[in-house]
Formats: sequence, C-alpha cells, structure tokens
Amino acid sequence: MHTPQTMGQQFGRRSWAEPWKIKMVEPIRQIPAPERRQALQDAGYNTFLLRSEDVYIDLLTDSGTGAMSDRQWAGMMLGDEAYAGSRSFFRLEAAVRQHYGYADILPVHQGRGAEHLLSQCAIRKGQYVPGNMYFTTTRLHQELAGGIFEDVIGDAAHDTGNQHPFKGNVDLHKLEALIQRVGAQQIAYLSLAATVNMAGGQPVSMANIREVARIAREHDKKLVLDIARFAENAWFIREREEGYADKPLPDIVREMLSEADGVLMSAKKDAIANIGGFAAIREDEVFFKRLQARGIVFEGFPTYGGLAGRDLEAIAVGLREVLGEDYLRHRIEQVAYLGAVLEEQGAAILKPVGGHAVYLNAGRMLPDIPAAQFPAQALTGALYLAGGVRGVEIGSVMAGRDPATGENRVAPLELVRLAVPRRVYSSRQLEQAGDAAAEVVADPGSVRGLELTTEAPVLRHFTARFRPVG
Ligand code: F0G
Repeated sequence: MHTPQTMGQQFGRRSWAEPWKIKMVEPIRQIPAPERRQALQDAGYNTFLLRSEDVYIDLLTDSGTGAMSDRQWAGMMLGDEAYAGSRSFFRLEAAVRQHYGYADILPVHQGRGAEHLLSQCAIRKGQYVPGNMYFTTTRLHQELAGGIFEDVIGDAAHDTGNQHPFKGNVDLHKLEALIQRVGAQQIAYLSLAATVNMAGGQPVSMANIREVARIAREHDKKLVLDIARFAENAWFIREREEGYADKPLPDIVREMLSEADGVLMSAKKDAIANIGGFAAIREDEVFFKRLQARGIVFEGFPTYGGLAGRDLEAIAVGLREVLGEDYLRHRIEQVAYLGAVLEEQGAAILKPVGGHAVYLNAGRMLPDIPAAQFPAQALTGALYLAGGVRGVEIGSVMAGRDPATGENRVAPLELVRLAVPRRVYSSRQLEQAGDAAAEVVADPGSVRGLELTTEAPVLRHFTARFRPVG
C-alpha cells in the first residue's frame, strides 16, 4: 500500500497533513475476531445495533460524530442557558446572518426536526415535493405530511462510473415535466440538497442551483435547500465550476444560499457540532411565524429549539470553522484518499468520490448475492468481521417498503457508505478500511446473503435484524 506521502505525490498534492494538533485523545481498540463474530451475531447483522466499544474504526456516519475544536469547547462554557432570549441564540443568529444571509433562524434539535416543521407547514395532502434524490428522514417527513416525493436528480447520479463533476444536479427537464404533469398548484415546494448524501456526497453546481431557483420563481414556489453539507458543496464548486476558482469560500456559500427561499440545516454535519440544527426562511414572516408556532410544540421555545445554550454556541463557532480553507482542503482530500486506498485494494467504489464518504459498490463486490439477500447489508458485516470497520448499508434495506403497496423497494444500487467523521481519524486509521476491503475482495465467496428476521414499519434500517441465508 502507498504511504500517505507517496499517495499524496501520486495525486499531485503537496501536503494534506491535518491542520490541527491533538489536545485530547479517546482510546480505541480492535477486539479479537471471535468477539467480533459474536458481536455481529448479537447485533442481528445490523451495524446500527453494534456497541461502539466493539467497533475499531467507526465510519457509520459523519453526523454528530465530529471532533469539536478548542474554540467550540470554550464556547460550550459560555453557553447561556436562559429559557428565553439566550445570548447564545443571538450569537448563532449573528453567525447565520453573516455567513448565510438569512436574518431569522429557528433552532431545532437536529435536521429532521426542521424537516418535520417544514413538511407539516408547507405540504398539503397529495402535493408533490420534487428533490434531487431523497434522504430517508426528509422523504419520510414529506410522506407523513401527505406529500409525494419525486426524484428529479439527473441520471448520472445513478451511474456509479459516470464522472460528471456535479452528479447531484437536478435534471431540469424532469423537474419541468413533473410541473407540467401535475400542475404547479400540486407542487408544495422545491427541495434541493447540497451535497446529495444518497448519491455519494455528490455536489450541485451553482448554475444548477440558479436554474432550479429560476424555475421555482417562475411557478411561484419556494426553493428550500438542505444545507447539511453546504461547505463541502462550496468546495467542489470552487474546484470544478468555471468562474469560481478564485472566489473565497464564504462568498460561494452566500451566493448558493441567496438563490433559496429557505434552508434546513443539520448542524451535526457541516457545523461540526454533536447535535443540533436550524431552519431559516427568507422574506415570508407569516410562514416563518407558522414554523415557529409548530416549533414551540415539538422543539421548544424559538430561542433554544430543543438545544442547550451551549449547543447553540458550538454550532455558531463550527459554522465559521467549517469554511476555513485548510480545514476544508484536508477534509475533502482525506475522503478522496480513503477512496484511493479502497480502490487500490480492489474495492469497487462510486466515483467521483464525494465530500463526506466513500461508497462501496456491493453489487459489484459481491456479485453472487442476489438483491433480495441484501448484498450491501452483507458487505457491512464482512467489513466489520475483517477489520472492526463499521459502515452503513445504503441499498434495499434503507430503501424500505413502498407505503402504498407494502412491497420492498428495490434500490437502484446496493451501496455501503464509509462516512468519515470530521477531524476524528488520521489517514493511517482510515487505511484500516482498505485492509478490511482487501480481505473481502480476496474471498467474496465466504460472504453470505441475509434475510430479514424483524423490521420496523418505517426507517427500518436502524433496527432491522437479519440472519445469514442457508
Ligand atoms: N439531510 C441530509 C442530507 C442528511 O444527510 C441528514 C442526516 C438529514 C438531513 C437529517 O439530519 O440527522 O440531524 O436529523 N444524515 C445522517 C447520515 C443521519 O448519517 O447521513 P439529522
């Protein structure tokens, strides 16, 4: 295997060493193989049900798993825990105003809290919500509000080998066709995620955001951005889109967000906080007040929204740090490095590598396991057994069942996401995932397909249990 240095040279990088030093450590250890086998069996072959102590390198998610900075921890000490009018709320509001250009924010306990409020306030039963691929909680909240999610992402997003630089882009023809077919009055709002998690952390171009915003305006609809990973998206715009190479990242972010009428944020991602989120709406006080009113019922008073004052402080600081040039360069390049290591070990990965994770193509790595036996779920188990590495299935288990027919949805791709927590692992530690993949590649025949033994009616992937087939 290449060392980080030679790999760096191969990719033409001068240096991507961590732009921080370590002030506090949390010991981790690899439990022996027989114990891993037992742990996986006890977890019903579902990596969500493993104890984190039994995991060596935890790439389950980049959500809420980041390492906060000394500034964020210092902010925690300054948190104002007043029920109403907390100083920490105003600090967060000021950060959002400065960096995003939104005047009013509504804190929520995490991203799905904002999805809940928006869906309930903006969707009438039977209305459509077009979006660039779904995220599980986003689509579920739309469906719970009586909405119908319609995927209008470009076809490139479903093609693992397609090297399109902005695989998260909306196919404008699909969007226009939907509006033509159902009529603009049947569209609740337009929803756009940047980056697109389920497509592999793929970015959306500024030109595409602008065009989608134009179509929204043309039909008098709101455009709502899911900005959980906005900074990573901005980095790709600067790297890949003509005219942005010399623009400062904060300017790109402001430009992205200026096109939208509202934003939903899970602060557990690009605010590098362990919990939290917010919603913000532009120039519609009536609608914002409705969100606030519902927020009081489900999240809490509008200046804390289910969070402690110290959480608001951590988010306010994280929102600024995430736009740091050195931070983002390291972030994007570390994820790309993980992709390079995995490929070198013979793993099939989705390309180009996105902003927060590398996606393994389980359909290709385990070709003998039929889709009905959940090859991606089986691969998560195999990686854990091989190296104590925890990933997550993004395939037919996560796709769930069609609410109308009750049938299993067949995911277009059987993927395993290896998400990289922010500022947590060294690149050397990430190489463990490459070693684990190499073991699977060497003997794919030893991995068995799975069958479900129990599942919840919604968001089943979190708690479903399986057993090996045969
Ligand atoms: N939107 C996107 C694009 C997400 O990836 C997530 C969460 C949410 C919204 C919901 O935010 O978790 O704070 O309620 N994604 C996590 C993940 C769970 O592992 O990718 P939340």
